[in-house]
Formats: sequence, structure tokens, C-alpha cells
Amino acid sequence: MIFLDERILITGGAGFIGRSLSVRLLKSGYTVTVIDNLDPQVHGKNPDLKFFKHNKIKFIHGSILNHDLLGQAIQNQDYIIHLAAHTATGQSMYRIAEDTSINVLGMAKLMDYIVNNSHSIQKIIIASSRAVYGEGAYHCPHCGKIPKPKRISENLEKGLFELFCPYCGTQLIPQPTDEECILNPLSIYGASKVSIEYIASLSGTVAKIPITILRYQNVYGPGQALGNPYTGILSVFGTCLLNKAPISVFEDGQESRDFIYIDDAINATLSALKSESTNNQVYNIGTGIRTSICEVAALLIKEFDSHSEYMINGKYRIGDIRHNFADTSKAFRDFGFTSQISLDKGIQKFISWFSKQEIPQNNLMMSIKEMEGKNILKGGRQRSCIPQN
Ligand SMILES: NC(=O)c1ccc[n+]([C@@H]2O[C@H](COP(=O)([O-])OP(=O)(O)OC[C@H]3O[C@@H](n4cnc5c(N)ncnc54)[C@H](O)[C@@H]3O)[C@@H](O)[C@H]2O)c1
Repeated sequence: MIFLDERILITGGAGFIGRSLSVRLLKSGYTVTVIDNLDPQVHGKNPDLKFFKHNKIKFIHGSILNHDLLGQAIQNQDYIIHLAAHTATGQSMYRIAEDTSINVLGMAKLMDYIVNNSHSIQKIIIASSRAVYGEGAYHCPHCGKIPKPKRISENLEKGLFELFCPYCGTQLIPQPTDEECILNPLSIYGASKVSIEYIASLSGTVAKIPITILRYQNVYGPGQALGNPYTGILSVFGTCLLNKAPISVFEDGQESRDFIYIDDAINATLSALKSESTNNQVYNIGTGIRTSICEVAALLIKEFDSHSEYMINGKYRIGDIRHNFADTSKAFRDFGFTSQISLDKGIQKFISWFSKQEIPQNNLMMSIKEMEGKNILKGGRQRSCIPQN
């Protein structure tokens, strides 16, 4: 181990990204402190606290909204990686105050502390999300680039899930989304991430501390909160498989995302922390590869249990998007980041981890009912699909 004598605070460090990040930072020689309120939706009723003791991580159990605890956590640190958040996109559409209070007020309190108190912080990394863009970038073959593309509810109700050109009606073609793409969040979660980006950058200027914003795409891998049905497509599907329940896919399954393996996301975060060229910059963190949800479901099934099938439920969520994948050239240019782990390989690693976990409660149907009750989840003509090998 290298001893760097540098201290780092991870807010929300008990979560999926935070735990892997802590381990990597420790291995790289940092002294790590975590503040986390152990949200039961993420950690269940009996969170695993042995992890912190075992790894010699200083753990502060509490909310970033608590001024005194936050101050205690920030004191004597050199860097902060701010991950603490309410991350459930669908739920954010009806738990608006909760989402905004943790995400936006949490960010505001952190920066307020830095601006108004003496401290030793040299740089802050902020976890943002691809959700700030809403839909990604799109191109019309006839009309060119389409700013702020959006789906209309009349089309969604007819099962027309793709986006169409507002000028000529042609189906739009998804493009890699770069950091200059107009921010057009379609969920409260996305809107809260836009706010935190502004709050962090503006108050970072006052505090004269470099801020780096990382807009993660869909991060997956070992350590995801199995049993939390509101976030993480792969953990939701994995939970279904462990429970021998069919995977249920929204829309027609052709919606697509950019899936980045946890180790790649951690590499990107560490490189961004260490590189001065990332100061006061915003980066997409993804693979740049677009994969449909059906492809992901089929891959998981093929690798885990080839007898399973997935159901296309035809339902759509208000606030959900159709396609988004990253243009990662800025991250490559400024700190040499490119993802290393293919989706096939990453899914194999994810499966070898989750197959050893206790079978989590499958809360998917409960979450579907909850979202339908709130009018967030609509439509639905179910059909079953057996993946082809
Ligand atoms: N995982 C992804 O695919 C992904 C994608 C885009 C952005 N992000 C962002 O990265 C960050 C980490 O994501 P994750 O996947 O590890 O999520 P996670 O839900 O596993 O971790 C978030 C952690 O924050 C903690 N937390 C919630 N409210 C808190 C509060 N008031 N005070 C202290 N801690 C609190 C939770 O207990 C949890 O441990 C989040 O900001 C998320 O929005 C993640």
C-alpha cells in the first residue's frame, strides 16, 4: 500500500458506488471517512456495518442535512466526493419534497458549510447523472439536430415509444450525447441534479475550490442494492432471476441506455479527482455504447439461467426517457478515461456476485402498483419473450 497522507470524505459512501470507491481509495493510500444515513430503501432494515470496521473506514451515521454531523465529517478532510442522494427516478415524480430536500438542500448545506467555515478542502467531486439531459441527443434525417426532444403522451398511449421529429414527423435517430447538449431533465431527480450542478459550481467559485461534476450513465456491478425496485435496471432484473420470477421490461424493451461497469466508473472518478485539468469541468462517465433493455435482459438470462424468459409489459413511466448514451470524448481528452470492461464481461462478474447473495425480497410488483397508484406508470399490453441464443 502507498501512504499518501491524504484524507477524503465520501458522502453517501455506504451506497453502491460509495463502497467500491472507498475500497479503491483505501488501496490507493487515502484515509477515508464516510457519512451516510443508511436509507432503508437502499440498505434494508439491517445494514451491513462490518464493512466499515473491517476496512478501517471512519463511519459517521447520519444525514448530510444535519449541520453538526456534516461539519464533523468535513473537518480535516482534503477532498470530498459527494454521492449522497435520493436516486429513485420514478419515485422522485411523487416524492418530490424528499428527493429535492436530500439532493438539492443536501448539496446546498454542504457548500454552505464550506463557504462559511474554516476547512482544508482542496477539491470536490460531485455525482451528477445523465438524467440532467432528459432524452439524449437526437438527429432527424431531414431536419438535422433536434434540441429538447420529448415524447408526447398521445403517442405513448398508442405504444409509439420512439421520438419523432416535431417538424416533419420522421422517427428520430439517437446520437451520442456530449456535455454541451441542452439540459432538459424530464424527472424531478434529473431536475434536482441540474440544481446541484449549479449550486456546486457557483458556490465553488465563492469558496475558490475546484469542482468537478461527473454525469454518470447507468452504473452496474457487484454491490448494487438488490431488493430496491426503484433504481438500477440490472439489480432489479437480478432480483427477479434470484426469485425465479420473470423479468418485466417496460415499453417494448427497445429503449436503450449506456451501461458502465462499477470498476470503470470508479477508475473515472479517481482519475478525475487526481487530474487538475478536470477542475471546474463537467464530464460524461459512460462507455459510449448503446444497449437496449431487451438485450440486457437476454444477456443476463443467457449467463444466469437459460430457462428464464422476460415479459415485455408495454407500460411506460412518466419522467422516463427512451434513449441516452454518452459521448465520452471529453473525459478521454482531459484525463484519458475510456471504459475497459465489456457488457458481456461485466454481466458475468455481476452474476458471479449476485448468485452468492441471500435471495432478496422481490419488491418489483409492489413498486409497479405504487407507481400505477400515483399515475406515474401507464399503459400496458404484456407479451412474453424467450431470448434466442
Ligand atoms: N448508480 C448509478 O447508475 C448512478 C447513475 C447516475 C448517477 N448516480 C449518482 O451517483 C451517486 C451514488 O449512486 P449510488 O448508485 O451509489 O446510489 P445508492 O443509493 O446506492 O447510494 C446513495 C447513498 O446515499 C445515502 N443517503 C441518502 N440520503 C442521505 C442523506 N440525507 N445523508 C447521507 N446519506 C444519504 C444512502 O443511504 C446511500 O447509501 C448518487 O448521487 C447518484 O445520483 C448513480
